[in-house]
Amino acid sequence: MSNASLTFSFLAEPSDVNFGGNVHGGAVMKWIDQAGYACAVGWSSSYCVTVYVGGIRFLQPIKIGDLVEVRAKIILTGTTSMHIAIDVYSRNPKQSEWKRNTHCIIVFVAMDGEGKAISVPTWTPTTEEEVEMESYARKLMLLRKNIEDEMEAKIRK
Ligand SMILES: CC(C)(COP(=O)(O)OP(=O)(O)OC[C@H]1O[C@@H](n2cnc3c(N)ncnc32)[C@H](O)[C@@H]1OP(=O)(O)O)[C@@H](O)C(=O)NCCC(=O)NCCS
Repeated sequence: MSNASLTFSFLAEPSDVNFGGNVHGGAVMKWIDQAGYACAVGWSSSYCVTVYVGGIRFLQPIKIGDLVEVRAKIILTGTTSMHIAIDVYSRNPKQSEWKRNTHCIIVFVAMDGEGKAISVPTWTPTTEEEVEMESYARKLMLLRKNIEDEMEAKIRK
């Protein structure tokens, strides 16, 4: 496996619980950020910061005690940024069928020791699926532009 992807595997712990008895959304967001960070640092060989997390969709709840996999893979690189697709899957450890719980795109920027954005190695898609994911990331970037322009007015108010 290349350093363009990685998977975290662990058990959902009682300390991850929400008020409804399943895994807390905040815990899932932390796992997403951690897996994305490890993938970005592995690809760029430098410290990285999260610049954007988009469209986190919680599809199904994760049960406490479930085996969780957080799968991260680079799907697009720019000059200093890395777009990483994250998919969270879980299953009862007694069973073999995985459920897809969450999907999102997270973007990291590589930084030097002075906190300045630095360039990252170019990731080139090779398989059909990778080409499709890269085009998906580019499409999302364009769609996001409208949302960000709309939000910018509020942020700068
Ligand atoms: C990350 C940071 C250094 C970028 O600084 P900036 O002046 O906005 O830099 P730029 O506008 O040159 O953008 C840098 C890269 O981020 C990308 N980027 C910026 N905003 C983005 C967004 N909303 N979505 C996706 N990528 C974005 C740019 O496209 C650029 O990528 P490229 O070099 O591959 O083209 C700065 O925004 C920052 O420090 N943010 C806080 C990070 C942080 O604290 N994260 C949470 C804790 S880790």
